[in-house]
Amino acid sequence: MGLYKIKSYGCQMNERDAETLAGILCQHGYKETEEFEDADIIILHTCCVRESAENKILGKIGELKHLKEKKPELIIGVCGCMVQQPEAADKLKARAPHVDIIFGTHNLHQLPEFITQVKEFDQQITSVWSKEGEIVEDLPSMRKDKIKAYVNISYGCDNFCTYCIVPYVRGRERSRKPEAIIAEINKLKAEAFNEVMLLGQNVNSYGKDLEQKMDFADLLRKIDAETEMPRIRFMTSHPRDFNRKTVEAIAESDSVCPQIHLPIQAGSDRILKKMNRGYTREEYLELIDMIKEILPEASLTTDIIVGFPGETEEDFEFTLEAVRRAEYDNAYTFMYSKRSGTPAAEMIEQVEEQIKKDRLHKLIEVQNEISYKKNKPLLGKKVTVLVEGVSKGNPDKLAGRTSTNKIVTFAADRSLIGKFVDVEITETKTWSLEGTLF
Ligand code: 5AD
Ligand code: SF4
Repeated sequence: MGLYKIKSYGCQMNERDAETLAGILCQHGYKETEEFEDADIIILHTCCVRESAENKILGKIGELKHLKEKKPELIIGVCGCMVQQPEAADKLKARAPHVDIIFGTHNLHQLPEFITQVKEFDQQITSVWSKEGEIVEDLPSMRKDKIKAYVNISYGCDNFCTYCIVPYVRGRERSRKPEAIIAEINKLKAEAFNEVMLLGQNVNSYGKDLEQKMDFADLLRKIDAETEMPRIRFMTSHPRDFNRKTVEAIAESDSVCPQIHLPIQAGSDRILKKMNRGYTREEYLELIDMIKEILPEASLTTDIIVGFPGETEEDFEFTLEAVRRAEYDNAYTFMYSKRSGTPAAEMIEQVEEQIKKDRLHKLIEVQNEISYKKNKPLLGKKVTVLVEGVSKGNPDKLAGRTSTNKIVTFAADRSLIGKFVDVEITETKTWSLEGTLF
């Protein structure tokens, strides 16, 4: 019937949605191709969390024009967060007439209808629901990986951090029913998957909208009890809703990995308030202390934004201090990017680009030192690794991850891919570990 190419940008939510789009296309007889040139249908699955992502995607949309000229029957679809922003779909429609289908984050399941319409009427289709509908269960799916899988537990976000576009493009928070989550994980286990990453913009507020009384900690315990999945991870946590009950559930379950991604975003109380994050630096650091007390082996990661409007050198110093105190294993660091429609975009006192760059470099330097230091005690230790595949940096070696999500490379036979092995750590680096089979 034809070949499809999906290019997905942005977060894990998008990666997961792209697997659904791929599943829908396969169900309709399409097969995947790696090359844009060979495709009969191309879908760009977009992100708009920062301006850099949007610019990259607009560039790609421009490039596709030549392909469409060479092959007029090619169908081009652009979907996801970017087109969900107010007026974005109209602008794109005017600017890129070679795009056949423009559809939003709430319309993914309608892709087959759109394809049929384009084929029959040969006109540009725009379908962007401004409001989320009910969660659509049981959509087909073509998973990228055979070992690790993403499983959504909630969609959307109700937090409205003042810098963030997500609540506007992904709608209000909706929790999936626990039974649907458990059924999906059990199916994945039957298909020989060994690891699941539970996904939600704010996993800790899971269940608030459900009829049954259930919170995130209850969900973790239920998954641990009712599935045989060896490893369960989750992201993203929000400090406002993160609690002791969750850490206890992790500590007392066999499958939930001791790995917590807890975005701090900034270390200055003044900036945290302007960001509408709902906690102070001390409250945040108390959570970190509580995690270290109950789960001393846990790895901790975070997201940090530098150069939020009004951030002074002193505010930035508070961020560095918090980073030193929290001692993260790793941090995802970003320069603030103005997102139109969000409250922070309207704030005066936007920080100069060069200052943002300088602060980012400083922050990365401080964090790298901590990452290196935190890996050191692992030297000589035995760790259990789920083997994910051939190492990207060294094709003679395999690579996998520890329960704390550290990457380990080691020499071993490829037949071990997908299995758990014990590895002794022989060298520690900033980003990864080297080892030998135990
Ligand atoms: N500018 C820079 N970084 C942002 N993030 C979200 N919105 C913005 C923005 N406007 C970052 C946050 C979030 C991560 C996914 O992206 O740190 O946790
Ligand atoms: Fe954005 Fe804040 Fe929601 Fe995360 S919690 S998606 S940063 S609004």
